[in-house]
Amino acid sequence: MSGTGEGGGPPVDAVRLWRGLAGSAVLLDGFHALKHALRFGASVPVALTSDKAGALALAADLAPDVADTLDALLVETDDATLRALVPRLHPTAVAALADRPSRAANLEALARRPRTAPVVVLDDPRNLGNAGAVIRLAAGFGATGVVTTGTLDPWHPTVVRGGAGLHFATAVERLDDGALPEGPLFALDAEGDDIRGVTLPDDAVLAFGSERSGLSADVRARADHLVSLPMRPQVSSYNLATSVGMTLFHWSAQHAPAAAES
Ligand SMILES: C[S@@+](CC[C@H](N)C(=O)[O-])C[C@H]1O[C@@H](n2cnc3c(N)ncnc32)[C@H](O)[C@@H]1O
Repeated sequence: MSGTGEGGGPPVDAVRLWRGLAGSAVLLDGFHALKHALRFGASVPVALTSDKAGALALAADLAPDVADTLDALLVETDDATLRALVPRLHPTAVAALADRPSRAANLEALARRPRTAPVVVLDDPRNLGNAGAVIRLAAGFGATGVVTTGTLDPWHPTVVRGGAGLHFATAVERLDDGALPEGPLFALDAEGDDIRGVTLPDDAVLAFGSERSGLSADVRARADHLVSLPMRPQVSSYNLATSVGMTLFHWSAQHAPAAAES
């Protein structure tokens, strides 16, 4: 894969492979996205860098668990070649392409029962950065997956960038409104019951409304419980991703390890 072009130019095989895959594969933008994707089992057919020594130094420092994989995978190109393929190159000068996980496998993961961790539903989200941040939170808390309804594509490159490569650590799919995973539906809304008095079960489906208009009438009508996050009077609402973070933290706190005895 790493054969150089005539006169020591860019590695033509890797560049050709990149060009062939770029239209359909998932762009992993930077060292950290590639690191996360590898840790969570992504298939990465091509990874390029214009500073392999720098990338391997980062790996030795921050991710020794994937250092050997990165050494074998990363192909060094000159900076101009890499920037022609990835115009907004990440400061770590690393970019890779991953195969998108199959929708069938993700749907199966989302439907599997019994469920040991909640599914997050974003009901018609609008902001790509918010969606990426939510996927990162879901991965961090070990949620079963993130489902979106509406028109936003949760695999849009901007969402993937915001997710820092963690789309591979949880099941991410867009679904029709009527096809939400089964399980008790807890919808987050400032008018609901205070979450501090609510136990969120492991098989909960946690729904959050859109940034502009909140929960849709459909999700609101189908909710088994309407739950609110504590908020001082005169504050209208929290940011969507922040709300997901607080709710997942509340769920995780029910499983907190016992305090160590002194
Ligand atoms: C930016 S808010 C939407 C605000 C919107 N103007 C509205 O009328 O609800 C996005 C979502 O975050 C969640 N959220 C924000 N603040 C909340 C709170 N205090 N309690 C429960 N959920 C909240 C809700 O799911 C909400 O639909």
